[in-house]
Amino acid sequence: MTDQELHTTLPDEQPIMRLMPQPVNANAQGAIIGGWMMMQADIAGSIEAQRCAQGVVTTVAVNAFQFHQPVHVGDLVSFYAERLRVGKTSVTVKVEVYAQRHPDLLTTVKVTEATLTYVAVDPAGHAREMPH
Ligand SMILES: CC(C)(COP(=O)(O)OP(=O)(O)OC[C@H]1O[C@@H](n2cnc3c(N)ncnc32)[C@H](O)[C@@H]1OP(=O)(O)O)[C@@H](O)C(=O)NCCC(=O)NCCS
Repeated sequence: MTDQELHTTLPDEQPIMRLMPQPVNANAQGAIIGGWMMMQADIAGSIEAQRCAQGVVTTVAVNAFQFHQPVHVGDLVSFYAERLRVGKTSVTVKVEVYAQRHPDLLTTVKVTEATLTYVAVDPAGHAREMPH
């Protein structure tokens, strides 16, 4: 399918993070490497997890990660995060990622989605209870 056939719109809420990947983030073909996206999705999810924990969190698990479409140098990449489950010490966050294609920024494609679990930790790095 072409980008035009996959074209969607950005969600109504504010993204938790927005970035424009650079050539250093790409492979020799100009496509952004999966590891860059995994790092950014982890950071985006951790922002929501830190809000929930009202403090420091650490990633305990990447439960699911799917790359739907490639990202290219210069795309404007927006990350959205949603709490799926809050446990005793953990929070599970869904991260959805959209790319607005360079250079027009009018074509919007959902590129990635992931589910990650974070644990609230104390200064010693031990799990602590989520605030009520
Ligand atoms: C995160 C960490 C502090 C948890 O330690 P722990 O107290 O032994 O962990 P527990 O087994 O009690 O689990 C804590 C919570 O994480 C959840 N959890 C643990 N493993 C999980 C997994 N694979 N998937 C989903 N949730 C998981 C547990 O269900 C529990 O949640 P709850 O309290 O809300 O019910 C510890 O495992 C750690 O430091 N890991 C390394 C984290 C890290 O460095 N991340 C970055 C890697 S570069």
